[in-house]
Amino acid sequence: MSTEHVKDVVREKYGQAALRARAGAGSSCCGGAAALEPCCDPITSNLYDAAQEGEVPDLAVKASLGCDNPTALAELRAGETVLDLGSGGGIDVLLSARRVGPTGRAYGLDMTDEMLALAEENKRKSGLENVEFLKGEIEHIPLPDNSVDVIISNCVINLSGDKDRVIKEAFRVLKPGGRFAVSDVVVRGQVPPEIRRNMELWVGCVAGALGDYEYVAKLAKAGFDGIDIETTRVYSIEDARTFLAGEGLDVDALARQVEGTFISGFIRATKPAAAACCGPSCCS
Ligand SMILES: C[S@@+](CC[C@H](N)C(=O)[O-])C[C@H]1O[C@@H](n2cnc3c(N)ncnc32)[C@H](O)[C@@H]1O
Repeated sequence: MSTEHVKDVVREKYGQAALRARAGAGSSCCGGAAALEPCCDPITSNLYDAAQEGEVPDLAVKASLGCDNPTALAELRAGETVLDLGSGGGIDVLLSARRVGPTGRAYGLDMTDEMLALAEENKRKSGLENVEFLKGEIEHIPLPDNSVDVIISNCVINLSGDKDRVIKEAFRVLKPGGRFAVSDVVVRGQVPPEIRRNMELWVGCVAGALGDYEYVAKLAKAGFDGIDIETTRVYSIEDARTFLAGEGLDVDALARQVEGTFISGFIRATKPAAAACCGPSCCS
């Protein structure tokens, strides 16, 4: 699968998901089976508590397709600039905008027009002014170097065909001392090749997921330190049966093999702070 092919398929499927969400027909896509009811999707369901859902328009909740709740886990402070990679219908951008307040700013970046239209509608309904949605690819972030305090993302980096590039870009736009605070599907152990090469399961946030050691190595290679992956959900054999269904695979056999292999992880890392200047000559 070429990176461009992956991107085209992902864009098309998430465009359809955005249209379904707008039509009130359930927006499930992460989790594999596009026909699932959102109530039952093992990956995208039950991520936000009632208080958080009350802070954003209903449509933002309905369009939510993440695998966790990065704004609940990330430390966000008043006045900070936050960037959400693959912001979809915008739920995490709107929640972040409330946390950083009017002196801060929350950007959402997405490549899918239908998702951006949904996010703009949700922004309008929220009345928030410190929010901006950008069209673009997470492999080429349209923001300057050293301009963001916190990068969040919810179940998107697994979808990229060029994860090294995404992580390098995240490092570039973060300010020194800036934080990477990302939720993603992560693999612990081996994934059978039938799953790895299934495009529907890639779109479903399963087939493209990085191994935990691989994730840590890629972040370290880009220059991050303080790297940690916290497990927030472990997908059971029943969950695996659900997300493998409808793909023409031997569901029972594969679900047994991947029981407990897929997790939702919260990945933290920090861009090292700039060295302090200690005198007129020591930093030159
Ligand atoms: C699984 S959904 C998650 C959306 C949102 N983060 C949420 O929690 O609801 C993936 C989103 O990422 C976007 N996306 C996927 N790959 C992308 C890429 N390479 N560049 C920009 N956006 C991308 C899709 O258009 C889609 O809106």
